[in-house]
Amino acid sequence: MDVGSQQRGQWTSKIGFIFAAAGSAIGLGNIWRFPYITGQNGGAAFVFVYLMCILVIGLPYLYAELALGRYVHKNPVGAIRAIRPGSAWVLIGGLGVVTGLGILSYYAVIAGWTVGYIFKMAIPNQITFGEFVANPYLVVSLFAFFILITILVVYGGVQNGIERWSKILMPLLFVLLLGLIVYANFLPGSGKGLAFYLKPDFSKITGKVVLAALGQAFFSLSLGMGLMITYGSYLSKEDNLISSGFYVALADTAIAIMAGLIIFPALFAMNQNPAAGPGLVFQVLPAIFLHMPGGVIVGMIFFLLLSIAALTSTISLLEVPTAYLVDEKRVARKVAVWIVGGLTFLIGLPSALSQGAVSWLSKPIVGGMEFLSLMDFVWGNISLTVGAFFLSIFVGWVWGAKHAATELQQGNPAFARWAPFWSFLIRFVTPVFIFIILLNLFKFFG
Ligand code: TRP
Repeated sequence: MDVGSQQRGQWTSKIGFIFAAAGSAIGLGNIWRFPYITGQNGGAAFVFVYLMCILVIGLPYLYAELALGRYVHKNPVGAIRAIRPGSAWVLIGGLGVVTGLGILSYYAVIAGWTVGYIFKMAIPNQITFGEFVANPYLVVSLFAFFILITILVVYGGVQNGIERWSKILMPLLFVLLLGLIVYANFLPGSGKGLAFYLKPDFSKITGKVVLAALGQAFFSLSLGMGLMITYGSYLSKEDNLISSGFYVALADTAIAIMAGLIIFPALFAMNQNPAAGPGLVFQVLPAIFLHMPGGVIVGMIFFLLLSIAALTSTISLLEVPTAYLVDEKRVARKVAVWIVGGLTFLIGLPSALSQGAVSWLSKPIVGGMEFLSLMDFVWGNISLTVGAFFLSIFVGWVWGAKHAATELQQGNPAFARWAPFWSFLIRFVTPVFIFIILLNLFKFFG
């Protein structure tokens, strides 16, 4: 019997998995990262490429991670070990574990800002976003606070609390976003923003745009580092991986698109630059809220929900290294979460201080990126893309698309008809496409 997965337990229901996995997928990636990356990459053409990446690469690849996870009931390292013991493939699982730490280290910094903004909305002092993130005491304590909450949730066992809260809070987030879409699109001048966001100019599609779109697709769906292997490992054989995975991808994509329907109309209505980068959401949305009747309350609720959406994501990021220590190193879960959380805090400090608090960290290091943006690029883009490349080859060729397809048919017999098509995607389309993208990246640097 597999001790690790026993300690980790199983989802209480199919809906429990969908909420937990959607909770992981929906986060800052949808509401903070998607709009600013879209803004930097020219708008609608990027959105189009992004949707194609989700459909052709993201969703089929999501099934590969889920199938592997449920088949072996293990963390990414353990899963690969179970299929190819003693091979170098294990390194790919290891990369996933390290990537979890890397992403969490800066992600929790930004999540800390969202917590700070709940209060900032209520206090009518006018410090700007730039001043806010450059205050070292503020950002480091908010960052520490967020890591601590994440540790406490993962420490105590997530399923009940998170499942129950996600079921209430995610629909609330959805309703709030709908309301804001209506409001933003009534602002005078918002139409130009909508056009920027939805009317593609295909001449803007370059290698860099496609890389950004693919990276964003993996990031947003929580793919490429074995998170879905880990979450899939808590599923039972009766669960329908195909429909569950589809709902997760649909919810995630819908929330991202909705976020853009708020930000871009508002942005153009207020004459701001869509390519402003990571500060976009923190500058534009508060400005809208302050113009609305009752905007303070709406703003507070918005940042509260965003914090919670971020929390269900940080939990999943902490879970992968934790599951690794628990399964493979036999560390007690309650110890493992503190080790991983403490390490994350240390790794994250330079990111927290890189937005003006410490000047040499805040200067561009490579390609115009300061420390936090560089971490996001390395872990949140390159590492996930490389990870997905090797994992798709692992599932498609090493474990074998046939075995994976058989696993996907469990709980969904009708998948048999689609299996050859899916095998083709995972064996050829995914790895070849990613390979071309990566080549292009090296040319971009080269
Ligand atoms: N998907 C989350 C978001 O969009 C971030 C995230 C959580 C993630 N877990 C992950 C990204 C695992 C990659 C891999 O905010």
